[in-house]
Amino acid sequence: MRIKSMPTQPIAGQRPGTSGLRAKVKVFQQPHYLANFVQSVFDVIGDISGQTLVLGGDGRYFNREAIQIIIKMAAANGFAKVLVGQGGILSTPAASCVIRKYQAFGGLILSASHNPAGPDADFGIKYNIGNGGPAPEQVTEAIFKRTTEITAYKIVEADDIHLDEIGQFSMGDMQVQVIDAVADYAALMQGIFDFDAIRGLLAQDFSFVFDAMHAVTGPYATTILEDMLGAPKGTVINGEPKEDFGGGHPDPNLTYAHELVDILYGDDAPDFGAASDGDGDRNMILGNHFFVTPSDSLAVMAANATLVPAYQDGIAGVARSMPTSGAVDRVAEALGIDCYETPTGWKFFGSLMDAGKVTLCGEESFGTGSDHVREKDGLWAVLFWLNILAVRQESVESILADHWVKYGRNFYSRHDYEAVDSAAATQVLQHVRDQFESLKGQTLAGRVVKLCDDFAYTDPIDGSISTNQGVRVLFEDGSRIIFRLSGTGTSGATIRIYLESYEQDTTKHDLDAQVALADMIDAAHQISKLPEFTGRDKPTVIT
Ligand code: G1P
Ligand code: ZN
Repeated sequence: MRIKSMPTQPIAGQRPGTSGLRAKVKVFQQPHYLANFVQSVFDVIGDISGQTLVLGGDGRYFNREAIQIIIKMAAANGFAKVLVGQGGILSTPAASCVIRKYQAFGGLILSASHNPAGPDADFGIKYNIGNGGPAPEQVTEAIFKRTTEITAYKIVEADDIHLDEIGQFSMGDMQVQVIDAVADYAALMQGIFDFDAIRGLLAQDFSFVFDAMHAVTGPYATTILEDMLGAPKGTVINGEPKEDFGGGHPDPNLTYAHELVDILYGDDAPDFGAASDGDGDRNMILGNHFFVTPSDSLAVMAANATLVPAYQDGIAGVARSMPTSGAVDRVAEALGIDCYETPTGWKFFGSLMDAGKVTLCGEESFGTGSDHVREKDGLWAVLFWLNILAVRQESVESILADHWVKYGRNFYSRHDYEAVDSAAATQVLQHVRDQFESLKGQTLAGRVVKLCDDFAYTDPIDGSISTNQGVRVLFEDGSRIIFRLSGTGTSGATIRIYLESYEQDTTKHDLDAQVALADMIDAAHQISKLPEFTGRDKPTVIT
């Protein structure tokens, strides 16, 4: 089999962001764009000869073409084997599971998560290391550096692999194994949760809807929830994955998952509702007329972990990203376990999990997970909740009310201003930064400012340092306003404002978060001059 060395030149802008390299499909379709990035990965990850690579994606437009290119490049670069999901599909948590289970060298995951898909929308690629988790920053930076120096990439001349057939194929000296995309992941879930208890719950007078949003979790949810756990057919809605996600925006939040939200807030609403995103790593949890914030969801999971067989002996510790609310911190304190605060992005949890320091972790951005894989995991979170509901036999709302009585409520909301002019976005953050000294001691929204800083993190395991991870305004009473620029967007800049205020008084726990946080929202506008700099007076998305 002929290996071609294709001459190429560096292409600007290939620095991986919060979660890999993301760009418009049209950018990825430019000559050499994908190949340059993949060769840069192969060049810096170490000795790959004789090793196994896991490959799969969320099935979005350009997934199949990208998979064929990568298989041919893997063969040319000396991998012994590629494990690829049937049809080129692997959800992000399933890819992490497969990397770990078969002790692969690493994996390439093709996804732009919840970003819309289709010829005019987004594509993405990220490299995960042998622990199944996103490559840490030293690796992503090395990949980026390589993209700026690349002069050639290697690819074999071969026919495409039949991705729809499970089986073993060869490409030169390399084996390509097309695997069932769901089976390994489903088996892992069965080993974690009390499937009998969940089956019992689903057989009762309990109604449940799962929205796969025409994205990758459709086949996973149908197999696990309907076939294995006996949920009635039709429990999974929008279960057929589509290359353009049905024209939708598969981000499971109150704005984009409106079909599910309408069902859970409608007449005759079911007891439980959940959704996952484009690549299956995010989740949204709803009760009957009730929304569980991701920060609260993590806290409830930590407080109830021993109800789940895999965690019945207790959890080692928890971790949350910095902007995530401190609800889980209170549970950790009560349990007497450590709680780590990391920068935004799942890659920062990997070292803590590998070192056995944390079992559960989560982000306010609808991501929760555990050390069963090294990615956040949407269906895992849904099964976790079903397991809790099966054991406690209470409604979602009453579980939360009970939780807040015990720990107090961390009112929380994130306001996103999407597709803002990049220069204006930088000005907004800089304006707050310029007031770091003067804000200290001032009273804003009836609270005294204790400290302002740019969040920096030193990884307690490997000592690596990450700076500029969000502008923080911290108040004496524990309330917080945080400003951050998104690292996953593909058009202009996205400003995220994270707002948090703690309330112990149970008579105030029923307040709507936007009402409870109204004065904090005003304060955020006032200190950042966001409306003046951006010309926006309200957020694009509120979660
Ligand atoms: C966003 C979320 C972050 C998450 C990432 C990948 O990143 O905020 O928590 O890890 O997507 O799903 P951002 O766009 O804020 O950089
Ligand atoms: Zn995702």
